[in-house]
Amino acid sequence: MKFDVQKIREDFPALSQTVRGGKKLVYFDNAATSQKPRSVIEAIGNFYACDNANIHRSAHELSARATEQYENARKKALKFLNAPKEYCAVFTRGATESLNIVAQSWGQSNLAEGDEILLTEMEHHANIVPWQIAAQKTGAKIRIVKILPDGSLDMDDFERKISEKTKIVSVAHASNVLGTVNDISAISKTAKKFGAKVSIDAAQSAPHMLDDMSKLDCDFISLSAHKCFGPTGCGVLVSKQSILDSMPPYQCGGDMIENVSWERTTFRPAPERFEAGTPNIAGAIGFGAAIDYLSSLDIDGLRRHEHALRERLTERLLEIGGIKIFGNAKDKVALASFCRPGVHPNDISVMLDAAGIAVRTGHHCAEPLMNSLGIEGTARASLAFYNTLDEIDFFAETLKHAIDLLA
Ligand code: ALA
Repeated sequence: MKFDVQKIREDFPALSQTVRGGKKLVYFDNAATSQKPRSVIEAIGNFYACDNANIHRSAHELSARATEQYENARKKALKFLNAPKEYCAVFTRGATESLNIVAQSWGQSNLAEGDEILLTEMEHHANIVPWQIAAQKTGAKIRIVKILPDGSLDMDDFERKISEKTKIVSVAHASNVLGTVNDISAISKTAKKFGAKVSIDAAQSAPHMLDDMSKLDCDFISLSAHKCFGPTGCGVLVSKQSILDSMPPYQCGGDMIENVSWERTTFRPAPERFEAGTPNIAGAIGFGAAIDYLSSLDIDGLRRHEHALRERLTERLLEIGGIKIFGNAKDKVALASFCRPGVHPNDISVMLDAAGIAVRTGHHCAEPLMNSLGIEGTARASLAFYNTLDEIDFFAETLKHAIDLLA
């Protein structure tokens, strides 16, 4: 069905509420988490109301139903990414846990002194700190690819820094601060020449309709369900079955073992190898429902709408005198991180909140990037396909008024 934003908004109960004493909610904090369509909320409710049981463990009907739904959600995740058939999806708590599995399990068993890990200046803490720990434990060194003044990745610097020493390039597909969408296929192509693996943090790109995984040609992909209109506490790590099966377990417990004796334990292949204990069954089923919902949308219409949102957001922000937007790359998701010199971003967000507009302020879990930009933080308006051009106009007028009062 043709993309109709007003109809789509009706699917998201949270969007029609008023806040702060009767102000219509304008939800512009989608990079932090997205709102959920009714079908996702119902899928989680139905699971607990009708099918609640543990998976993979019992022969009874409820367990069979729960297992079937959980495993179907896994198939949906692979289909959502259009992952080639040699890839496997591991359910995790979210992109952070997925990235930690890559750094701790793959990293600590494949890195050694003299090796290099290539990250970029625009990474989220979740794609920095796990690698710092892996580097400390293995003696490998972290190198950082610079960004250009427009917030795009400096591909010349990437070409200069990658070498035979590089064992993995771990990079955001889209930056949660700058919005920049990185050219993963170009990065993968170069990395392959040097035999380096590529891990992508797709937390911020997936909600905007991730590219086909077969085109990205990466080794690991990490994302969170809650940013893709699904529940919190669930995400996936997708990688080749052969890579995952060569990696040591990250956590140990039930369901991930083949045999346990006092002398020796053997482990199951992926995905179970990385899903110790009872997983977030309802979360995975809710994620499956979110994927079904996304799959029902007119993707071309959605992309056109998001493009129009991005253009209008930039245009309206620049009309307000003195605003600086951080991140103006040509390929960018619909978000804007901005500052007005002389006005604290927190004061901006308090005034916007009083008018019902939700944005995030601060360092956005990207302190090294803030240091490179020479700032402490920004205000950030991050949009999803259910936002409207009218909401952007209202946001811009409210922001202008706030700045007039605060500056
Ligand atoms: N990483 C999320 C954000 O950018 C929480 O807001």
